[in-house]
Amino acid sequence: MKPFNVFFDVLEGKMNLLGNKTVRRYNDIKGIFCEIDPKLEKENPVIYEVFEAPITEKEGDLMFLITVLYPGKVKNEFFMTKGHYHVIENTAEIYLGLRGNGLVLCQTREGDFEPIEISPNKVVYIPPYWAHRTVNTSSEPLVFFGVYPAHAGHDYKSVELEGFKKRVFFENGGIHIK
Ligand SMILES: [Fe+2]
Repeated sequence: MKPFNVFFDVLEGKMNLLGNKTVRRYNDIKGIFCEIDPKLEKENPVIYEVFEAPITEKEGDLMFLITVLYPGKVKNEFFMTKGHYHVIENTAEIYLGLRGNGLVLCQTREGDFEPIEISPNKVVYIPPYWAHRTVNTSSEPLVFFGVYPAHAGHDYKSVELEGFKKRVFFENGGIHIK
């Protein structure tokens, strides 16, 4: 592989050089929310998109990506990503907020839980062994850059089985983590 650069549009979150692109619609991930919304089932909106750089998943490389998590709620629970541990658990990840506001929910298998704010110019450090899920608590797309060891892999299954310890809701005009 040779050195390269990419251009990305911060407002749209689009990269000009693409590897995998993942699009998660409501019906793909509706099970992660605590309630089902029949209206959203019918409309099936895009909840988030992940644009990965064209990097192979091998040790020594760094994968980088841009995620665009759209604003919205399922009943009163904010739109969020599926969340995952890394398959190679001893691998960290860094996010840099570019647009919008939200929370990165982090938890360990031992039951530790930390909600970390993400917003433009804020860097979030997710240490090894911490699962991570992002929640958009704003009214615009939450766009963030991420980078992690390319061989880390994604373990979504554990989060599907365990869930996250807390959820984020809009209630009485405010954001509540419970
Ligand atoms: Fe990750």
